[in-house]
Amino acid sequence: MNKNKIEFFITVIMAIVDNIKNISYLKKFKKKILGKHSYLSNKMKQLKFLELNKKIFFGKILNKSFKKIKIHFLNREKKLKINFVKNYDINRNFDYTLPGKKLLFGSLHPITKSIYKIEDFFSKIGFSIINGYEIEDEYHNFSCLNIPKDHPSRNKKDTFWLSDNILLRTQTSNMQVHIMKNKKFPIKIISSGKVYRNDNDIKHTPMFHQIEGLIVSKNISFANLKWIICKFLNFFFKKKISIRFRNSYFPFTVLSAEVDIKEQNGKWLEILGCGIVHPNVLDNMNIDYKKYSGCAFGIGIERLTMLYYETLDLRNFFENNLNFLKQF
Ligand code: DAH
Repeated sequence: MNKNKIEFFITVIMAIVDNIKNISYLKKFKKKILGKHSYLSNKMKQLKFLELNKKIFFGKILNKSFKKIKIHFLNREKKLKINFVKNYDINRNFDYTLPGKKLLFGSLHPITKSIYKIEDFFSKIGFSIINGYEIEDEYHNFSCLNIPKDHPSRNKKDTFWLSDNILLRTQTSNMQVHIMKNKKFPIKIISSGKVYRNDNDIKHTPMFHQIEGLIVSKNISFANLKWIICKFLNFFFKKKISIRFRNSYFPFTVLSAEVDIKEQNGKWLEILGCGIVHPNVLDNMNIDYKKYSGCAFGIGIERLTMLYYETLDLRNFFENNLNFLKQF
């Protein structure tokens, strides 16, 4: 074994490595030079035939040589990788001076926030939350709810009809019918979702959100309804507010009321409808109205949200304008 020969070998290999320009070729070459049957490995194998002090002397030289070459290969690989990235960007005309893209954080839509807040309140006082159907038939949306054939809300122009009998629901009250069908008493549910009416101006959009509440059990009275509504409104607005129950009419309730709250400017503003479930509705569902009674309410979520955040144009909620939505 000859020290000079080994050192010469290493010098040559390092010079070759410095001139390799292709990473995959470099890797193949590395295997050849450092692999089992390479020049250096063969020299290692020969060590055992040497005398002890030569064994120690050449052993050290060979170990050092392995290390040196390994490091040299690694450095070359790094360099080639960096060059590759640099050239890649140059070829693609990458401009490092361009400003980066800003990552925007998303947030919940204000309407979704209101729905969660409402659901939070009602689930805490024992209501179940149920999903709703947006595509509905005439029976669930109108007939079963005691809405007569000639009622203005059935007007062909005001409702989005999908066929003679199928429509986009105009109110979440359709869910009352679905739930009463199950007849699992006591019924105590809320159901929120989208409703559709053919209206479009500063106060109306063709799609908006409602939340429906229904209780059917024994001895349900208007007092129960009033307590729930007042508690809810104070919770929602996080303060004591002036609430007014005003006599009204809905086909599916008898003792019907609309609820107004007093705005800061002293004006009363209607925010929901409610009442005692009409015996005809219970009868339509084969529920004995002498035994069971119920109360119901329907809340316009946009109206409530607008009041809470003091926004003026309902359409803002649906235009996906980030400058508006970022505020919530
Ligand atoms: N469905 C009614 C509407 O869209 C709102 C409503 C009023 C719902 C009274 C009710 C209720 O459950 O009892 O205008």
